[in-house]
This record gives sequence, C-alpha cells and structure tokens, in this order.
Amino acid sequence: MTTTSGKLTEPSSSFSWIIDIFSRYKIPFFLLMPICLASIVPELIIAGATSQFIDSYLINNRLNFAVPISWVLLISSILIISLFAFQMLILRRLENLFIRRVSVTVFTQLFRLPFHFFLSNQPAEASARLALGMQIGQMAVSKLLAFCLSILRAFTILFFTLLISVKLTVVSLLILVVNLLVTAQITQRREGENRKLAMVQALADGIGTSGISTIESIKASALENEFFNKWSDKFSVGVNGQQIQSLYVAFTAVVGDVSTFATQAAIVIIGGFLILDGSLTLGSLIAFQFLLGSVVAPLGNISDFANTIQQLTGLSGRVSDVIANDKDPRVQSFSTNESQPQPRLIGRIEGKNIHYRFPEAEDPIFSGLNFNIPAGTHLAIVGGSGSGKSTFLKMIAGFYSNNQGSLLYDGKPWEEIPDLQLRTSMTYVAQDVFLFRATIFENVTLWDPRFDQIDAYKALCDANLRQEIDSYPDGVNRMLRDNGSDLSGGQKQRIEIARALIRDPSIILMDEATSALDDRTEAEVLSVIKSKERTLITVAHRMLSAQLSDQVIVLERGEIVQRGHPKELEEVPGYYLNLLLSEDSRVK
Ligand SMILES: Nc1ncnc2c1ncn2[C@@H]1O[C@H](COP(=O)(O)OP(=O)(O)OP(=O)(O)O)[C@@H](O)[C@H]1O
Ligand SMILES: [Mg+2]
Repeated sequence: MTTTSGKLTEPSSSFSWIIDIFSRYKIPFFLLMPICLASIVPELIIAGATSQFIDSYLINNRLNFAVPISWVLLISSILIISLFAFQMLILRRLENLFIRRVSVTVFTQLFRLPFHFFLSNQPAEASARLALGMQIGQMAVSKLLAFCLSILRAFTILFFTLLISVKLTVVSLLILVVNLLVTAQITQRREGENRKLAMVQALADGIGTSGISTIESIKASALENEFFNKWSDKFSVGVNGQQIQSLYVAFTAVVGDVSTFATQAAIVIIGGFLILDGSLTLGSLIAFQFLLGSVVAPLGNISDFANTIQQLTGLSGRVSDVIANDKDPRVQSFSTNESQPQPRLIGRIEGKNIHYRFPEAEDPIFSGLNFNIPAGTHLAIVGGSGSGKSTFLKMIAGFYSNNQGSLLYDGKPWEEIPDLQLRTSMTYVAQDVFLFRATIFENVTLWDPRFDQIDAYKALCDANLRQEIDSYPDGVNRMLRDNGSDLSGGQKQRIEIARALIRDPSIILMDEATSALDDRTEAEVLSVIKSKERTLITVAHRMLSAQLSDQVIVLERGEIVQRGHPKELEEVPGYYLNLLLSEDSRVK
C-alpha cells in the first residue's frame, strides 16, 4: 500500500485487480474448463485400451483385438494432442490480452501519478514497473492458470485411479505427501535466505550503479580501490549466498528423484502382489501407472505453485500500488480527445493565499503567498538556497498542488482549462538537463512530428546555438552521446532552451536554466525569449536575469519578503540590494 505521498511501504498483497482483469475475458475462461475436462476422456480411453491390449491381446491371445485397439489408441492420441494444443492456444491468447491490458493500465496510471511518487521512488524502480505486466501475465496465466487446470485434471483422474486400485492410489499419494512436506520445509528455509540474498544482490547492484554514475568523483580522487572493496564486500556475500541456494536446490531435486523412485518401486511390488492374489490384472496395473503420471506431476508442483504465488504477491503489490495511488487530477491527456491544436493561454498567472506543505514535512513551506504576474512580463524569483524558489516554480508548472488558496492561469484554475491547452502553453526548463542518445534534432523536437528541421534550426538559433550547429558537419543531425556527454554544460542548457522555444509557449518557467551560460549569452537568450509576447518566470542565483526582469520576488524561508521592479528595489536597502551587493563583492 502507499502513503498519501505515494511512498511505497509494504506492498499490497491484493490480487483483486488481477481477478478484475481476468473477469473481462469470460469467453476464453468459459472455454478452458470444458476443454481441460474433455482432454481426460481420450486419456482414460488410452489407459483402458492399453490395459485391454495387454490383458486380451498379449496375455489371452485375442488376435482380433489388435487392429481396433491400435485405431483407438491412434485416434485418442490425436484427440488429446489437439485438445492440449487448443488449450495452449487459448492460454497464449489470454496471456497476450492480459499482458497488453496490464501494461497499458500500468503505463497510463504511472504517468498520471503525482510528482511526489517519483520523488519518493527511484527512477529505475518506478520504470521497472512498466515491465511488470509481462512478468505478471506470464506467471498468472502460463504458471498459475495452467497449474489450476492441471490440478483439476489430476483430481478427476484420481477418481479413476481409485476405481482401479484404492491401495495403490493411497500408497502413491502417501509418498507424494511426504515428498511435498520435505520440499515445503526446504522452501520455507529458502524463503528467508532468498529474501536476504535478493537484498544483498540489490545492494551490490546499487553500489555498482552509483559508482559508475559518479565515475568523475572516483577518477578525480583515485578512489577505485576503496570503491572495489565496498562493492566486493556485498558482492561476495551474494556469491556465497548463491552457493548455499544451489545446495538447497540440489537437495530438493534429490528428494524429488527419491520420491519418484520410491513410488515406482512401491507400485511394482504392491501391484505384483495384487496381481498374484487376483485382485488386479497386469493391464490394469499398467493403466494405473499411466494415469498416475497425470496425477503426480501437477501435485508434485504444488511447492512451485506456492513459490509462484509468493512472487506474484510481491509483483502484484507493486502494480496495485500504482493503480491504487491517488491520481493527479490535472493530468487528463489520456482521457481527453483534444486532437485539435488549442489556442495558447495569454499567460497571466495569479496566486491567492497559496499554502503548501510537502507531504512528509511538518511545517508548510508556503503560508499565504499572493502574487500577480501579468501576461507577457518577466518575473524573477531570487532568494537564498532553500528559500522555496524551485518549489514556487514547480507549483506553477503543476508538479505540486497547493493545499489552500487558488492558483489561476488567465483567471481560471488548472482543472477548468483543457489539459492540452494548458500544457502546450507552458514549458518548464529545469537546471538538470536530460538529453537522449539521439540527434540534436530529435532532442529538440522530442520526436514531435509537427516540427521539421527548419523549426529545430530556428529554435536552436534563438537559444544562441547557431555558431555551434553551423560548425557541425551534420548540423542538427549530429548524434549526441548519452545525456549529451560530448557537449559542454552551457550547450546542453541551450539545447534544452531550444526544446522549450520550438513549442512556442506563452509561459516559460526556467529554474537555473541559464546557470552555465556567460553573462552575454544569458542576456542574449533572455532577450530572444522576451522578444515575443510571453510570460517568463526565472529562478537564478546570478542576479543578471533579475536585473533584466519586470518584477522581482525575493523569497526567504517560503515568504515573499520583498517585491517590485528591479530598478526600484536597487534603490532601497533590503534583501534585494544585499543580494546584489554580495554578488558584486563575489565578482570583485
Ligand atoms: N520533495 C521535497 N520534500 C520535502 N521537502 C522538500 C522537497 N523539496 C524541497 N524541500 C524543502 O523545501 C525547501 C525549499 O526547497 P527549494 O528546492 O524550493 O529551494 P530553492 O530556493 O530552490 O533552493 P536552491 O537555490 O538551493 O535551489 C527546502 O528547505 C527543501 O529542503
Ligand atoms: Mg532550486
């Protein structure tokens, strides 16, 4: 289940969503049961025919039995194979439908979760959930459902083995039960070990990944050996644990083999005595052995079944966590049919008595913020580190919802504006740039087919990258390495700005998005952005963007402590002037 913040706690064991999805496919379900039961008929006929073949043809020399029995065996075999193939086809189809539905549901639900979910879950963990549909589908259909069908067959056939010989059936079942009890004991012990092993392996993986992603610090400080020791501590525990696990697995296999051998021996010995005292024929004994295979095999898999249920519980919890989590009511892009381009918002933003508290925090970060950003103006938010600047911007971008008060765009709350209209009117440029291993063109357009190379080139020029693009032999088709590792920090930021500009938004939110640019380039980029009628909100540590703005808000511990035109604020003692003076003294 989840907390309101979206944080994962104990995974929910609820299978109800699985049942809910299965209940949509009643027809395949309806077909599976009769097919499974029908496949028992040819199996019984084969057992009976084999028994007759031995008793009548081989022992009593009734030669006229040979041809009809062979025909019966042939037809029954074809029938049983056809029914099994049909059952398999239905199971595959069901699995396919199930996987598709779960995957689409998880994807759409995951992308509708509030921003907080992604803050409290690691990206790799959250994105791994997208593949859960495949794993769960295979487990639920190929393993569990197929197992349930084989158990249904097993119990029906058991009834017929009892008709052949109660004694043989009871002895075989007793051996099977002993086998199951021993295996269950071993599995139970393994369970704890398995969990510990998974944790240690995940830790070793995590250490490895964090090492690779902080390779710069490791190389710069010659920490390779220390890092190796840290990683190998965990990794070697994992390797040892794996070896112990292998021992358990080998022991379980031996127990299984011994039990099969004991069953066979018991049937031959007890069956032999039953034949001698005339209560069983040789043909019936062979028929019994033939049928027993279909009983013992599925029953012997019960411990596997228990294991699968356990794994499925964990996986299903991670899906139900996504499904049950509160959705962000503002994300409507999956449920609306807004295919037509929407007119842009004008870009007036107003906040009235805004309160906001992070779900895990005790105190609110904002308690009654009021602000008004006229359309087409530039607001600069300044303030010390941790004063709430990024939070302010993210709230306007819709990542966080204010707990109280109203945040209005062109005079309306978010929920009253068509989703596509609002989100195409606004772009958010973060400080941490993410670039794909793709061409510059693809990184700027993000594969949006509405834009061509000329649009991308124009946006890149507006973001002050003309010189660079012109110097590349492939121009905008230059391929970038992972996360643009072959570009400078400032070039990456300008590509991200181009990504925002190509969409021609009426509101641009920039969180330290020009921090890696020199003053001249920053001023040029800002002037291009402002050359169009746009609302611009910038957060920057450097004061240049504030000096170029129309309105400055100074934040201190989530409170607006000063606001006004930069020229006015420069004239009066206060926070803004202090920030300006401290930057000047740093420069000197
Ligand atoms: N997801 C979060 N959960 C809880 N508290 C948070 C979260 N994000 C930020 N905070 C807290 O909110 C406060 C404001 O953070 P914010 O990132 O808005 O500061 P900032 O002004 O942008 O700082 P900086 O200039 O260093 O980027 C900080 O005290 C921070 O610890
Ligand atoms: Mg910040």
